[in-house]
Amino acid sequence: MRTLEGRVAVVTGGAGGLGRAMGERFAGAGMKVVLADVQAEPLARTVAECREAGMDIIGVPTDVTNYASVEALRDATLSAFGAVHVVCNNAGIGAGAEGRMWEHELNDWKWAIGVNMMGVVHGINAFVPVMLEQDDEGHIVNTSSGNGGVSPLPSTPQYAATKAAVVTITECLYGQLQEVGSKLGASVLFPGPHILRTGLFESWRSRTDEFAKERPRKTPYTTVEGLEAQMKAAGVNIAYTPVEEVAELVVAGLLANEFWMHPRSERGDNQLLARTDSILNRTNPAYLRAVPG
Ligand SMILES: NC(=O)c1ccc[n+]([C@@H]2O[C@H](COP(=O)([O-])OP(=O)(O)OC[C@H]3O[C@@H](n4cnc5c(N)ncnc54)[C@H](O)[C@@H]3O)[C@@H](O)[C@H]2O)c1
Repeated sequence: MRTLEGRVAVVTGGAGGLGRAMGERFAGAGMKVVLADVQAEPLARTVAECREAGMDIIGVPTDVTNYASVEALRDATLSAFGAVHVVCNNAGIGAGAEGRMWEHELNDWKWAIGVNMMGVVHGINAFVPVMLEQDDEGHIVNTSSGNGGVSPLPSTPQYAATKAAVVTITECLYGQLQEVGSKLGASVLFPGPHILRTGLFESWRSRTDEFAKERPRKTPYTTVEGLEAQMKAAGVNIAYTPVEEVAELVVAGLLANEFWMHPRSERGDNQLLARTDSILNRTNPAYLRAVPG
């Protein structure tokens, strides 16, 4: 996009974490912003704080697993701001399943597929037709993850599989937008290079009744502290990327029309190379990691 000023952005998963950071960065660039989230109260608090700080931001409670809810988000955006130029399909969850994957509940899968994958599909179906009709510049940014998007962590099959799907969906979207000669761009975002200290590790907070756990947990959910202990035990350096840094990467990527919003890091590039090398050389996966980082 040539400019963001005066344009309208929609960010799902905008109550906190990376979604909020993108919304604030967009508002700082002179955009009108719609933050959407399934957690209505944190969303209302975030929107109130942003508006207090003078940002042109509204909030629309939205469940991205529900297509009618995403259509209502689109309609609310159009009625508030009259157009939509940037859509960040960013809402995401870590399923927090326990045990081995053959013990995981089917609802762990359905929930992750509903939010991480169908949330992106719903965003595309609801917004792209109106964006094409506008016949103006625009961009769709879909949030993937190095976990799945680059190579999977076997401990998180639902997350890794759905984040891999986000990459493929976005590549197909890019290809089709090119084929129809549209003015819209598409990008896949890999937040990082390190993990972000956000609500993602407490995703159980946003688990809706539709995808409720089928049986009580036997073990406590992993916390950020628990994850840090696992990383330490595996000898992995614990480092965090500030969400503001990722939001900056997104703005730069939008202005430069970059498909891969993928921060450069030797570690990330090596993970990608190791997996690609295994596929090319038909060797069994020796690149699989036990913990992030
Ligand atoms: N935290 C990391 O290290 C990391 C790394 C790579 C990718 N990501 C991805 O970045 C994105 C943002 O995550 P984050 O780290 O800011 O975590 P976060 O938990 O702080 O933000 C995610 C938001 O999505 C919302 N959400 C969950 N289910 C929803 C639904 N059904 N409908 C609407 N909103 C819903 C949550 O309420 C939450 O506010 C996610 O897609 C995540 O997978 C995060």
